[in-house]
Amino acid sequence: MTGGQAPDPASAELRDLYEEQYSAPPGEAERNGAWRALCAQGKADHVAELVRSLPSVPSTVVEIGCGDGSLLTALAERAVGEVRHGFEISERAVAFAASRPHVDRVEFFDGVDLPVPDKTYDLGVLSHVIEHVPEPALLLREAARACRALVVEVPLEDNRSASRPAAARGREELGHLHRFSREAVGALARSAGLEVRAEVADPLPREIHGFWADSMAARARASAKAAVRRALFTVAPRVAERTFTLHYAALLTPKP
Ligand SMILES: C[S@@+](CC[C@H](N)C(=O)[O-])C[C@H]1O[C@@H](n2cnc3c(N)ncnc32)[C@H](O)[C@@H]1O
Repeated sequence: MTGGQAPDPASAELRDLYEEQYSAPPGEAERNGAWRALCAQGKADHVAELVRSLPSVPSTVVEIGCGDGSLLTALAERAVGEVRHGFEISERAVAFAASRPHVDRVEFFDGVDLPVPDKTYDLGVLSHVIEHVPEPALLLREAARACRALVVEVPLEDNRSASRPAAARGREELGHLHRFSREAVGALARSAGLEVRAEVADPLPREIHGFWADSMAARARASAKAAVRRALFTVAPRVAERTFTLHYAALLTPKP
């Protein structure tokens, strides 16, 4: 894992960044919502696939850093969990998520301590959150306290393409404080008393690569990029992983 300085998890600066991400003007907000809903499809597929490796079907599910509730909604569409809760550090995101019919409860929290007893949930989901957190090990340990099993998804950004200055600027805008490798996620899991029980990596579909393309030429480039990435990922997954960003989800359970 490569990271920068460690600001306070609940710093005003970080909170402002996320509040801003959930408060675009109307036209833009609609497009951002469509983007999050599209991304949630793949993320929910990963969770649905991984939980099949658990000994029993999870009934109570919590998403920590649930954003606007897109992923909780996509999990409901796949019948993952009977009860679905969310915790968030952005008040605007809490309001969005709480308005969704398939989300049973959403709470604002300090980004550090979950206000629930040990092992409250069968499954906790940390999707594209730990790369945003100054001390991911602390949040993971807290999630492991509150949940019997976790699914953690991150972009694997410790690769050649993501080392370019333009990619670094993009990460900064998004609030990524860390660039994870698969190995770093495993080490982080072990530091929280967890082990990787199952994992899935995804080079992402054409729809994702092309979502922000606003011309025929840009759409054609995005389709070509998606096809090349999937082809390399299929024949040489570890080479692909060192070359460009994959989304990586891991099912983590307590070490026996
Ligand atoms: C990229 S979004 C991901 C949202 C959602 N999990 C998803 O996958 O669609 C990152 C989210 O992490 C939240 N976040 C940042 N720091 C956090 C922390 N310490 N604890 C919980 N959530 C945090 C942000 O407010 C933001 O909503």
